[in-house]
Amino acid sequence: MKITAVAHSNIALVKYWGKRDARLNLPAVGSISLTLDALHTHTSVQFDETFKSDTLFLNGKEAGEKETKRISGFLDLIRARSGQKSKAQVESENNFPTAAGLASSASGFAALAAAASKAAGLSLSDRELSVLARLGSGSAARSVFGGIVEMHKGQKADGSDSFAEPLYPPDYWDLRLLIAVTSEAKKSIGSTDGMTLSKNTSPYYKAWVDSHPADLVGMKKALEHKDFTGLGEISEFSCLKMHALALASNPGMLYWNETTLAGIHLLREIRRHGTEVYFTIDAGPQVKAICLPEAVNKVKEALGSLAGVKQVMHTKLGPGIRIIGEEN
Ligand code: PMV
Repeated sequence: MKITAVAHSNIALVKYWGKRDARLNLPAVGSISLTLDALHTHTSVQFDETFKSDTLFLNGKEAGEKETKRISGFLDLIRARSGQKSKAQVESENNFPTAAGLASSASGFAALAAAASKAAGLSLSDRELSVLARLGSGSAARSVFGGIVEMHKGQKADGSDSFAEPLYPPDYWDLRLLIAVTSEAKKSIGSTDGMTLSKNTSPYYKAWVDSHPADLVGMKKALEHKDFTGLGEISEFSCLKMHALALASNPGMLYWNETTLAGIHLLREIRRHGTEVYFTIDAGPQVKAICLPEAVNKVKEALGSLAGVKQVMHTKLGPGIRIIGEEN
């Protein structure tokens, strides 16, 4: 059977950075994210006993050794669990730039977990899929669900309580994201290596972990009351704390370029003039603006006319993973 699944990317408002267990990919902190309608990955998986090795086609091109190895390691987990012995062919298409801080690993591993587990004959619940996707990429655990999602760091050593859960469905609150793409290049240091470096070298790491639960509590309260100012202020605080942690690692990691910084100033300037808009930035140079529907045109136009911005994507909140194809 060739199974095709689709998963949407997500952007964290309260960020995840740091692992309590690197082998099981267990986060040191929880997180809260928005699943994005307009950014998605379609992934097809087929196991076949005639395949000699696992192969990965990413956006129509055969992927390199490093990427294929990462996928193969993930498929091994599914093979161990299902008894499926065959190698697989994986075809994955993103409708947005890969590995540039646009959460391609989130939608990628969520879609892969759904398609590969079903193709291997497993029938997993959403929670089990979230635990499985987490083993591929921490943020992928959140992309299993739509709308507004919380990831639990969990306490258990085996990671069975480290999964995501939906907080609110996509239609709970019409939040909008505008993503200003400032570079389509791959990021210089991936999140796994970056998190290890921060944990091992940053004097701010303990402060980050210790101060994090208050952001989760504050964000949940803002969401419950649809308090957009509260949501925005905590988002910027969590984002800047994460980047301060990365900057204070040794060697320091600076994910921004000059356009990223100009974007931050621009959004704060728009805010000073009375239109509420806030930013968040992941491990890459893209600026993500969070606003309400009435501010979309103004923010989109302003970001689009900033020198260095290549494109501005607009999205609403989107759904969780779905299986969209089953062929023999
Ligand atoms: O899931 P990973 O390993 O790609 O880590 C994601 C880390 C950030 O995107 C920077 C923050 C987050 O919570 O999504």
